[in-house]
Amino acid sequence: MDARPNSPEARDIRYHLHGYTNARKHQESGPLVIEKGDGIYVEDVAGNRYIEAMAGLWSVAVGFSEKRLVDAATRQMSKLPYYHDFGSKSHSPLIDLAERLVQMAPVPMNKAYFTNSGSEANDTAMKMIWYRSNALGQSARKKIISRKRGYHGVTIAAASLTGLPNNHLSFDLPIANVLHTSTPHYWREAEPGESEEQFASRLAGDLEKLILAEGPETIAAFFGEPIMGAGGVIVPPVGYWEKIQSVLSKYDILLVADEVICGFGRTGEMFGSQTFGIRPDIMVLSKQISSSYLPISALLINERVFEPIAEESDRIGTFGHGFTGGGHPVAAAVALENLKLIEERDLVGNARAVGAHLQARLRRLASHPLVGEVRGVGLIAAVELVADKAGKAPWGKPGALGALVNGLLQQNGVISRNMGDAIAFCPPLIITEAQVNTLVDAFERSLTAALPQVRAQG
Ligand SMILES: Cc1ncc(COP(=O)(O)O)c(C=O)c1O
Repeated sequence: MDARPNSPEARDIRYHLHGYTNARKHQESGPLVIEKGDGIYVEDVAGNRYIEAMAGLWSVAVGFSEKRLVDAATRQMSKLPYYHDFGSKSHSPLIDLAERLVQMAPVPMNKAYFTNSGSEANDTAMKMIWYRSNALGQSARKKIISRKRGYHGVTIAAASLTGLPNNHLSFDLPIANVLHTSTPHYWREAEPGESEEQFASRLAGDLEKLILAEGPETIAAFFGEPIMGAGGVIVPPVGYWEKIQSVLSKYDILLVADEVICGFGRTGEMFGSQTFGIRPDIMVLSKQISSSYLPISALLINERVFEPIAEESDRIGTFGHGFTGGGHPVAAAVALENLKLIEERDLVGNARAVGAHLQARLRRLASHPLVGEVRGVGLIAAVELVADKAGKAPWGKPGALGALVNGLLQQNGVISRNMGDAIAFCPPLIITEAQVNTLVDAFERSLTAALPQVRAQG
């Protein structure tokens, strides 16, 4: 770190409170200041180059230097830099994007609604669902079920849906009416001798028990990511989504697929819902929709959701919800160009082919003494590290080994992220096989470097 009083690092420490950071520790260790991007690489202020193995925050599909997105933004900025969709106003980028998204959806969807972030989109989904229940005269139907270790964002509603302790502790969350059911993590949660299918049936049974205990007439919706991302890249067991969906349809409960990470190719299909046979009533989209060059998110809602909302807005006089920046024309124009690029360059096919290579390369590390589980689909993966393979036990405090290896990985030129002891990989969809090899080689070197330290400290 550059310790001079006016270095970027020193000024960051002086003026900037970071998200998802230990604010006290940051005052000592300082930031990693990223200065520029080039394809799958980013470079810091000292000129060090890194493979961005998380695509930023699971989001930069087309890489960090896509000129066509810059040009799309510039064109739209010159023509109409801002407009909104309140009071029946609209604009071409939004109309084009709404049409495009509804037509892309893997199940029949009726309308697109625009917001600025994944959290806002999930918050909006929850409000739409409550509004709908009231419209249908089912005022008791307000409870929402999500999952432990699920991640849906950080607004008061979205953080409540999130099933991670760090998003609740000292925030007085979750709010009432949000319930959390079991995590579909076979390796960690299955009972001895239980098959994946049996495990999935048990989890569907847990969900049904919860619904019955609360009263099915009080449950409005279930929120889930096709693959859990921030909870540690948890790939559900065989049959899981089918069994969950049959419980939900038995009690007429809406299904919201949070596709914020999985959407637009990540799993090797356009949507995670296709990979896992999910038939959602609402899809929540963000991140790779614009490669995060500008913030934009969207909800796709089906007729079951739209029709009662339309009726209720007619009764009240308006659908009293909307964000000043929701469906911003420049962000919408960038999203449209980004979706064009994903299609033209067949980045979904690339995620499937190069993703298979990434998964195979990582699975070759399964016999390493520090590797507990390798999991993932397409271009999203995680390697969960353990000190004791048989007992699946961590090295001291949970997360310590993950942090150690993640730090070594950064020294070896790869930016990743450890979620506890799981090291995640979610590179830009443009990554090549050769670049995957460089990435996995660096990871292997980091594991090798960590081993003596782990052994020394027991
Ligand atoms: C599945 C999922 N949903 C929602 C969100 C929240 O999105 P945002 O950070 O844009 O609010 C995230 C962010 O990582 C996410 O991974």
